Amino acid sequence: MGYGTRVKEILYGGDYNPEQWPEEVWQEDMRLMKKAHINMVTLNVFSWAALQPDEDTYDFRRLDKIMELVRENGLKVCMATSTGAHPAWMAKRHPDILRTEANGMKRKFGGRHNSCPNSPSYRYYAPKLAAELAKRYKDYDNIVAWHVSNEFGGECYCENCEKAFREWLKERYGTIEEVNRSYNTAFWGHTFYDWDEIVLPNLLSEHFEHNGHISTMFQGISLDYMRFMSDSMLECFRMEYDVIKEEMPDIPITTNLMGFYKNLDYQKWANYMDFVSWDSYPMPQDTPAETALNHDLMRGVGAQDSFVLMEQTPSVTNWHPYNRLKRPGVMRLLSMQAAAHGADAIQFFQIRRTVGACEKFHGAVIDHAGREDTRVFREITELGRDLERLGDEILEGRTPAETAIVFDWDNWWALEYSAGPSIRMKYLDAVKDYYTPLHGQNIPVDIISVEDDLSPYKVVFAPLLYMSKTGFDEKLRKFTADGGIFVTTYFSGIVDEHDLVYPGGYPGPLKNVLGIWVEEQDALPEDEKNAFTYGGCVYPAEMLCDIMHLEGAEGVSSYLKDFYQDTPVITVNSYGKGKAWYVGTRSDKSFYEEFVKDIMKEAGIHGVMATPEGVEAAARKNEKGTVIFLLNHNEKEAEVILESGCRELLDGAEYECGSAVTLAPKGVMVLKKGEV
Ligand code: GLA
Ligand code: ZN
Repeated sequence: MGYGTRVKEILYGGDYNPEQWPEEVWQEDMRLMKKAHINMVTLNVFSWAALQPDEDTYDFRRLDKIMELVRENGLKVCMATSTGAHPAWMAKRHPDILRTEANGMKRKFGGRHNSCPNSPSYRYYAPKLAAELAKRYKDYDNIVAWHVSNEFGGECYCENCEKAFREWLKERYGTIEEVNRSYNTAFWGHTFYDWDEIVLPNLLSEHFEHNGHISTMFQGISLDYMRFMSDSMLECFRMEYDVIKEEMPDIPITTNLMGFYKNLDYQKWANYMDFVSWDSYPMPQDTPAETALNHDLMRGVGAQDSFVLMEQTPSVTNWHPYNRLKRPGVMRLLSMQAAAHGADAIQFFQIRRTVGACEKFHGAVIDHAGREDTRVFREITELGRDLERLGDEILEGRTPAETAIVFDWDNWWALEYSAGPSIRMKYLDAVKDYYTPLHGQNIPVDIISVEDDLSPYKVVFAPLLYMSKTGFDEKLRKFTADGGIFVTTYFSGIVDEHDLVYPGGYPGPLKNVLGIWVEEQDALPEDEKNAFTYGGCVYPAEMLCDIMHLEGAEGVSSYLKDFYQDTPVITVNSYGKGKAWYVGTRSDKSFYEEFVKDIMKEAGIHGVMATPEGVEAAARKNEKGTVIFLLNHNEKEAEVILESGCRELLDGAEYECGSAVTLAPKGVMVLKKGEV
């Protein structure tokens, strides 16, 4: 994965839109990019209208000039296909390309990421443009990657999508009886007799708005529509992928993903991408753990290979409610954090700040002032120098994780479509409950899918695994029997992949590995809590309290009040050579810290390095050795005692084992282990 072995340096640059500028400006851009140590640009992200003035005409004259210019200036190119926004003429002449919203409203031309993924016109013209581009530019040996469209996403509810949905259902279920069974249509007499009785689920059919959310009366069909939309867009990606591959078989192809983006099942998508790239725009209030978790997810969807940070802002966005500046040092810190979690390239949106429309106040390498004596330009230049110094030390480096957290898109969709037991239940919150203390203890974590192999791990957490797909239970049993530690939580093992409840008691197929039976779940409102004792301290039991019976497992903690007082809340079951833990409620940060610490101790897993609070230590390992990133997220200096001899790769300083090093506020050290 990554850009592949052809590139021996960290690529550094970003989205460059010279088509928005007169040619006089281009030479100045080249000068400034060189000054900033930029070695690559992503071109042609939104130029469809310029490249294709009508059905039969392509006009590549301007792009030819741009390609020549960047080649002469020694820049590598990530070549985008421009299909993320269709031309106005196309919308006028081929209205099937326009999307329809959830309320049935057909859109007119406008915005971007606006094409219906099942529009015959889109499916004809988008790959055709990609093919034309690939044919024209295939001899440019500075093209290091292709970037299909841009941030695929959103949804469409038009008639073409409805027809395609029926075809998708035929393929998936074969018979209408099987659809009826999977959706449990005997409920409310929704039985279908013919395929064309099935309408897509939206606000005109099974959906309704409730508390500001879209809810559904039939989870099965709504879940399938999420899957279908994700698949429809994936087909669009693949159509462009295939035509580019035909012309340039050796150049890797990607599209820029968005971290925890709910609409698209990236674990499925990544199977069809040559490498993963993604756009990281943390909110100012996001914790270092939340940003790290997104990187780990993106690394995980790409089978734990390195990825490309395709976009980040050097300074500010335009679309947060309050667009705070990244404080001095923060852009470098976040870039190094991305590298620490698997990025082999660091890119910005955008190189030159645009003058009109909604992104004119979005940060850029070159500001409206056009000057190089700005704080942001200086920081970009310094980072460019740092990345140059890292050379190929981290490239294709893997994260040495013995701990995994399971994440599953189907489970995300199904859980949050579920009516009851609590609207407060959010999948990502449950994942963060466990990830945050692991991150805080500098434990490398892989975020894996239910398809992934569990055998590389000593500990597997599967928080809030409401949907336990057929076969995953067997994998978990084997993992545990072979000596692994498996941890799951309240409201897990409830339904199968059709969102149909497993009869015979919760947690369905996970009952025997966990050695418990959950009889009821009590959903607590925000201001009510139960409690339990763990390791001598009392912790809150919040949101959902599973009421359960031991069937082989040992009770570790019990509820302290209510009618289920003294019944178990945390259990552990010895299963084969391993152990299976069940945490039957949600608790607070201090509980998760203690619990995770105990689990890691039991598994014999150690953090990358012991660091003070707010200092992150993360490792990458390639054939050249292990590199440890120390990242000081604090506003103040921090001291770290090195646990092995190291050479600092940015300034060349050498440290013996046991040395104390001081990190500046927001400071970074990149240490090559064992070199002293
Ligand atoms: C996304 C898009 C870019 C740009 C940035 C702004 O990531 O891909 O085109 O709009 O957001 O933050
Ligand atoms: Zn559509």
